[in-house]
Amino acid sequence: MKITYYGQSAFGVEVQGKSLVFDPFISPNELASHVDVDSIPADYILLSHGHQDHVFDAEQIAKRTGATVISNFEIVTWYGDKEINGHPMNHGGNWNFDFGSVKYVNAVHSSVLPDGTYGGNPGGFVITSEDGTFYFAGDTALTWDMKLIPMTSPKLDFAILPIGDNFTMGIEDAVIASDFINCDKIIGCHYDTFGYIKINHEAAKKAFAEKNKELILIEIGDSLTI
Ligand code: NI
Ligand code: MN
Repeated sequence: MKITYYGQSAFGVEVQGKSLVFDPFISPNELASHVDVDSIPADYILLSHGHQDHVFDAEQIAKRTGATVISNFEIVTWYGDKEINGHPMNHGGNWNFDFGSVKYVNAVHSSVLPDGTYGGNPGGFVITSEDGTFYFAGDTALTWDMKLIPMTSPKLDFAILPIGDNFTMGIEDAVIASDFINCDKIIGCHYDTFGYIKINHEAAKKAFAEKNKELILIEIGDSLTI
């Protein structure tokens, strides 16, 4: 799977020849000013919750590409009113798409859409395909529910976890989360974009390395293959 980081919690992941875009907040992010939103490929746009720093560019990308939004019922309904195709889910539900399956799992956070519309409850996604399995946590605290993921999914090849603290887990809790989900390869997100979430990269990597785990911090605009 080819993974491209677009800053904050925005990622592109190629799965079974399909382009999945997660939580696209790119054009307002000064750290991602070199990323061209209009050249990002998308077959599906997965939105973990309704906050601006996760959905800002979703409408523009969906209208350009015709991508299907995958999110909770409330968010998909909101985009449906903008004539954007969507697939509604809710917590604990799994659905088979043409690239693999998506399970919408619990997150401990909040969710409201940019115009103040109720954004349902926030979530994360477990993607399972012939290319492998990964977990995109969205914005969340460390939660005991993460222990359900290895009980209900194939072994994770990697996980994308928030590490910036203040609004989500910080480093110490993310290390515990990586134990809960039984995954040693973590890609960090939700750090550095705002003053509240600036982190020390080397200290963060060291905290994971001390537990024999790898924290990968991808340069914005760069890709890697797992
Ligand atoms: Ni949020
Ligand atoms: Mn956020």
